[in-house]
Amino acid sequence: MPTLATTVDGLQLPNPFVIGSGPPGTNLKVIQRAFKEGWGAVIAKTVSLDASKVVNVGPRYAKLKSADGNEVIGWENIELISDRPFEKGLDEFKECKDSYPDGVLIASVMEEFNKDAWCEIIERCQDAGVDGFELNFSCPHGLPERKMGAAMGQDPAILEEVCGWVNGVSKIPVWAKMTPNVTHIEDPGRAALKAGCEGLAAINTIRSVMGVDLETLRPEPTVEGYTTPGGYSSKAVKPIALRMVMELAQMIRAEFPGRSLSAIGGVESGQDAAQFILLGGDTVQVCTGVMKFGYPVVRRFCDELLEFMEKKGFETLDDFKGHSLQYFTTHAELVRMQTERKAKDAAKKAGMVTADSDWDGDDFVKQSDGLARN
Ligand SMILES: Cc1cc2nc3c(=O)[nH]c(=O)nc-3n(C[C@H](O)[C@H](O)[C@H](O)COP(=O)(O)O)c2cc1C
Repeated sequence: MPTLATTVDGLQLPNPFVIGSGPPGTNLKVIQRAFKEGWGAVIAKTVSLDASKVVNVGPRYAKLKSADGNEVIGWENIELISDRPFEKGLDEFKECKDSYPDGVLIASVMEEFNKDAWCEIIERCQDAGVDGFELNFSCPHGLPERKMGAAMGQDPAILEEVCGWVNGVSKIPVWAKMTPNVTHIEDPGRAALKAGCEGLAAINTIRSVMGVDLETLRPEPTVEGYTTPGGYSSKAVKPIALRMVMELAQMIRAEFPGRSLSAIGGVESGQDAAQFILLGGDTVQVCTGVMKFGYPVVRRFCDELLEFMEKKGFETLDDFKGHSLQYFTTHAELVRMQTERKAKDAAKKAGMVTADSDWDGDDFVKQSDGLARN
């Protein structure tokens, strides 16, 4: 019987399914619910020291539906980080660890470019008993106006400096969460790992505009008649997330072997998770999927992943983690391989021997003729 249990950066998880930072990990009630349903770990909604600066609007979500209107394919949000008082969050982290001591609770944190602020938030969350950190360098809307989130994550030099501050005070694992809103995601990823982070998480949401209402001519989601570009998530982002996870996994294997990768983006099944693990993910995060299907969906995810493992004869996640990375190459190499294969096929069709192992007793004379000039 295969097992989903896994240890990542010393954290022991019963399965690789992790609640991604956002509404599904926003207060004690919902975090406890996630542990009760069997999620492998929870990344709480991002906190900052001064929540009074965080003011949310509504509506703040917009959905892209399938042609028949039955399925949500894409999801845009213009939600900010947690608007709850930091002290309240700390109390809830403590209470959560008291009620679920074995539940892996990771604090997602974000601050302005200020060393004291970053050190303070890390030390206070650490004292509250959380098991690890995820640094949010990736929120695409609202916070970049304060040079936070994606504004930091798009600048590898700043990101390296901030990660250095954090790693100077953190005694627990630190993952840096990457923004997909860059050309080469390996650059910020490399900066975070150079500065000592144990791992990377990717991707956060993709900067987007959901659409324009053709009646009112207003872009969506519309707040007081106006909008601002938001972050795109859910099923539609999975191909982009897979590509970026693959790029980070290749970089980690080449330059920082042993560092971890938490894969995120549009996961809605155990099969989706298997694909992210095949491309190098140690864990798989789910945010919008929980908003679409609810907390119990983790049981289906686990069953589906176990079914895949059983079918392929894999006993542990390590048996197939990163397996499919070897099948990526350049386009030029695809052309070379295909040309070579076509030439071999043509030679075979013409009865031409292309390797000594092809010689065959029955066709010997025909094969000899095939190699002779007529
Ligand atoms: C409504 C909403 C709020 C989010 N808030 C946060 C946040 O506070 N911090 C963070 O790091 N990511 C946040 N995210 C991003 C998710 O954690 C995740 O990276 C992204 O949505 C892609 O994964 P998914 O398709 O499983 O949702 C949020 C996403 C959504 C949809």
